[in-house]
Amino acid sequence: MIDQLNISLNNNTDAATPVISVEHMFKSFGANHVLIDFNMQLYKGENLVVLGKSGSGKSVLIKCIIGLLEQDSGAIDVLGNDVQNLDEKELDELRAKVGFLFQSNALYDSMTVRENLEFPLRRHWIKLTAAETDAKVKDVLENVGLAHTIDMMPAELSGGMRKRIALARTLILDPEIMLYDEPTTGLDPITAKEISELIVTMGEKYNTSSIIISHDMNCIRMTADRIVMLIDGCCYAQGTFTELEQNNDPLVKQFFQQWQSKLSIT
Ligand SMILES: Nc1ncnc2c1ncn2[C@@H]1O[C@H](COP(=O)(O)OP(=O)(O)OP(=O)(O)O)[C@@H](O)[C@H]1O
Ligand SMILES: [Mg+2]
Repeated sequence: MIDQLNISLNNNTDAATPVISVEHMFKSFGANHVLIDFNMQLYKGENLVVLGKSGSGKSVLIKCIIGLLEQDSGAIDVLGNDVQNLDEKELDELRAKVGFLFQSNALYDSMTVRENLEFPLRRHWIKLTAAETDAKVKDVLENVGLAHTIDMMPAELSGGMRKRIALARTLILDPEIMLYDEPTTGLDPITAKEISELIVTMGEKYNTSSIIISHDMNCIRMTADRIVMLIDGCCYAQGTFTELEQNNDPLVKQFFQQWQSKLSIT
């Protein structure tokens, strides 16, 4: 295994209160050892990016955090809960506090935008009057800049708009933590920039702590308070964007060089 780099933590984080803690986590699929003694903390109020190549285990990590997959060993603590030992009801309660923006958005194609946004409220038995529900739907839609789409179907929306609606559907539950899986993949650069900005502004507005999984360096630069680099199954390096960008380790450099050479062409 490669030695982990010793890059300092960003002092902006509140070190006393990790809202997610992953310790000595192992996860394999048969002979495919995806996560090998992986360690990571998400601190209250921070935007943490997990950066890694395709197939490095980023989605597996996030799925274990939300209890969709089970780790082989090691501990995952989310908001004081040992995820592996929660029953279905407890997991459900936790998932209301941890919003998950899927790579695919996972909107319901047969429902209008309004119905898509009402769905999580019903699903989590949140008791609101019709007027309160209406106000909540309109409020969250306004926050993502799409008030006018309330009666539209997902098929009528662009990729960027669908991503915003998926984000609104997650935010409507007022989550404490947001997990974003590749939020800008498949979007054009301008839309990707808008979504990155929205991640930051919504984080501030809804007071969330976030894990953002990405290999879009522009998105990472805009959103990350701190970056964890997932290489060969473990947390290979961590630090701020600038700290890692200036690091001379060849594996760390690889990620930044490609991005820098693209910048110099455009
Ligand atoms: N349910 C599963 N069963 C078997 N293998 C799996 C399963 N889910 C993921 N894997 C394997 O785990 C490894 C990591 O997959 P993962 O989806 O986490 O990658 P990733 O880092 O999210 O990649 P990408 O950037 O392409 O989304 C891959 O080798 C994948 O084939
Ligand atoms: Mg993935």
